[in-house]
Amino acid sequence: MSQSSQDILRSAQVAALRGTIHVPGDKSISHRSLILGGLAVGETRISGLLEGADVLATKDALIALGVEIEKTKNGDWQVFGVGLNGMISPAKPLDLGNSGTGVRLLMGVVAGQDITATFTGDASLSRRPMARITDPLTSIGASMSSRDGLLPVTVTGTASPLACQHHSKVASAQIKSAILLASLNARGTTQITEPYASRDHSESMLRYFGADVQQTTDEDGSHLISLQGEAVLHGRQITVPRDPSSAAFAMVAALITPNSDVMIPGISMNPLRTGLLDTLIEMGGSIERVNERNEGGEITADLHVKSSQLHGIEVPASRAASMIDEYPILSVAAAAASGTTDMRGVAELRVKETDRIKVMAEGLRQCGVSVAYDDDSMRITGQMTGQVTGQATDSKIAGGVTIAAQHDHRIGMSFLTLGMVAAKPITVLGCATIETSFPGFAARMSEIGASITDGVA
Ligand code: S3P
Repeated sequence: MSQSSQDILRSAQVAALRGTIHVPGDKSISHRSLILGGLAVGETRISGLLEGADVLATKDALIALGVEIEKTKNGDWQVFGVGLNGMISPAKPLDLGNSGTGVRLLMGVVAGQDITATFTGDASLSRRPMARITDPLTSIGASMSSRDGLLPVTVTGTASPLACQHHSKVASAQIKSAILLASLNARGTTQITEPYASRDHSESMLRYFGADVQQTTDEDGSHLISLQGEAVLHGRQITVPRDPSSAAFAMVAALITPNSDVMIPGISMNPLRTGLLDTLIEMGGSIERVNERNEGGEITADLHVKSSQLHGIEVPASRAASMIDEYPILSVAAAAASGTTDMRGVAELRVKETDRIKVMAEGLRQCGVSVAYDDDSMRITGQMTGQVTGQATDSKIAGGVTIAAQHDHRIGMSFLTLGMVAAKPITVLGCATIETSFPGFAARMSEIGASITDGVA
């Protein structure tokens, strides 16, 4: 990706963040709304869809698979479903850009139908492991061809997938969702187990669309999902809640910036997505969940966040699945806390858009923060930026550096957040991918007081 001016941003220390920030719709639910809408019979109408590059790539891929999708005048999206066997083989490869969720879930969709599609992606997606998806999809009867389990992958699906039992070694919503989507046409019951419960949007949305999906969690934390095959999905009305993974940046920014008082309305409070919220509260963060309500089947709340002196804690491996995308920004909170924060069981971070353990650790060290890490854990020694006394100018986070975010949206937003409390500004390269999940991040953060400017100017 070329480094246009938007690709380089610079974040400087600010005295306070104040006001209300609206973050975009949930990325996971947005992908699934389009996909399930495409597989349903009848029309699905979606409000609050995240119009980020990842979700738009899924939309374009569904159109190439024969689904009609339109934006209405009031900003909602309409999907005219083709049913579980109604998609067509696309004329060209499906390019899912940077989106791991899009490519993996759509491989599941194609695997369960009598069609063939080739999947490609950008440089980052082309380095990410796909065998975790192609192996279980092969066991249900689809054929896969790839080089070393990487993109490009060609999937030839089957109209009569086998109902199987799958034991996933990692807690991954992408793996279980691909299997569930591929097995909707199977005769019989498909069962999936995962070591800990990962986000369950596919399960609850499939139920909402009319499929029979059960889920139970054992005492040891393992999660079992069963799906009755030969399902029929019906078009639905969906309101996408706002994304807790995007709210995470505003939340941490308000906690670590002195004199801050910020409202973040309408955030999904799905219990399998609130690991960071629980962690920040345990670290001493002042975050109140107010106005809790049920919006279109999802519990949402407004988050009221005030500056707080955070202290380090141990974040257990059992919590990792419920905050897997939030470790980069948790690392920033840990850097601004007192004491050490130990993050355990985070090996999955190594196969995200970048190796998030390594890229965060190297960037934090450049900023003057002490970090130790291995394959599965990260330990950060906090620098106490003085949130209570309101003297962030005494910040021990030096800043004054240029960080390469390696085109990873969450790494980019994390270092721009750290810049708000660093002694000298932090310049971040590779910010264009912020558009994949949080379009307008710099402008919306600036509205509540952040100083995020074009790094080239
Ligand atoms: C997602 C699942 C997670 C997460 C990703 C979105 C999803 O990946 O990192 O951003 O929507 O299913 P894994 O399930 O592979 O951990």
